[in-house]
Amino acid sequence: MEALAVALRNLVDNALKYSPDQPAVWVEWGPENGRVAIRVRDKGMGIAESERNAIFRKFVRGSAAAAGNVRGTGVGLAMVRQIVIAHGGSVRVESDPGRGSTFTMLPPASGRV
Ligand SMILES: Nc1ncnc2c1ncn2[C@@H]1O[C@H](COP(=O)(O)OP(=O)(O)OP(=O)(O)O)[C@@H](O)[C@H]1O
Ligand SMILES: [Mg+2]
Repeated sequence: MEALAVALRNLVDNALKYSPDQPAVWVEWGPENGRVAIRVRDKGMGIAESERNAIFRKFVRGSAAAAGNVRGTGVGLAMVRQIVIAHGGSVRVESDPGRGSTFTMLPPASGRV
């Protein structure tokens, strides 16, 4: 579905932008509680726990943006969340500051993404 490709593209863009010293990212489709999760993983700057909710809001940019002098407007993740929720799914982030982040998109419990 096209909107989900846009969401995936945004996560991959971020993974690349915020891992300038480790410019490889991993995208995988893997099982999670009987569903197929899409995970985008990087070995970049990571995201402080205190920022992990706020970055999904529109126009919110985190410390990785300032630290890496990375351009952007802070709308990517807000769009990702909107798209995923519109499909009945969810998105979340896990991160180890200084070591990297993993964004996971999950389809709705009952069906397709
Ligand atoms: N993979 C990541 N690693 C570290 N920080 C991230 C990552 N993805 C997002 N962030 C943080 O979350 C903030 C919000 O991300 P979002 O994609 O919404 O906006 P942006 O990348 O700053 O700008 P835009 O996507 O609009 O060009 C970023 O400014 C950055 O601080
Ligand atoms: Mg972005």
